[in-house]
Amino acid sequence: MKLFLDSANIEEIKKAREWGLLDGVTTNPSLVAKEMSKGKGFREVITEILHETPGPVSIEVIATDYETMLSQALKISSLGSNAVVKLPMTLNGLNATRALKEKRIPVNSTLIFNGIQALFAAKAGAEFVSPFVGRLDDIGEDGMSVIEQIKTIFTNYDIKTKILVASIRNPLHVVRAMIMGADVITLPFDVLSKLPSHPKTDEGLSRFLKDWENAFGSMEFPL
Ligand code: G3P
Repeated sequence: MKLFLDSANIEEIKKAREWGLLDGVTTNPSLVAKEMSKGKGFREVITEILHETPGPVSIEVIATDYETMLSQALKISSLGSNAVVKLPMTLNGLNATRALKEKRIPVNSTLIFNGIQALFAAKAGAEFVSPFVGRLDDIGEDGMSVIEQIKTIFTNYDIKTKILVASIRNPLHVVRAMIMGADVITLPFDVLSKLPSHPKTDEGLSRFLKDWENAFGSMEFPL
């Protein structure tokens, strides 16, 4: 199971890497636009992320027609050997996925909301499918049940496309995705930061150290 960071912010990416919790990065136009609003150009934002990330980085096209999608995809792919082109799950997106598969350019098919969309993206040759669980929860549906659906469909037909769970909002989404056997989970920085901690870990550690200090009057190590 791989952990990706869902961010275009280079400081967050560097921190996740320092923690040893960065297998890859996913971005989207909203996240990249946020970083560009701070004065950086598109190429600068993306090349910095590609350089800092020890794995795949998904970068999304902003076109919706086939020809322009393809030309943007080729430019994105030329930016680095770990670049993955993110294409929306539309009919044009599927055709572009097929064309990129022939050129051996990896595609992350995004904005997936059910098992059929995931199956179609996989059949077109996508390397990753990105179902958005949080956005389904937002409209009163159970986002995680879609992950279960996709996992079953991919197992039934021996599909090798990786399930990349996106739009994660909390640690419970993460645990459920792991139990379901998702291949990749992409996390916003605030959720990633919460994952290693537990209040009982902090409480237990503080009690152990206090007991030691009470017994010996100092924290000197006896070896
Ligand atoms: O990057 C795609 C996805 O993770 C976006 O999540 O929180 O905007 O629904 P969110």
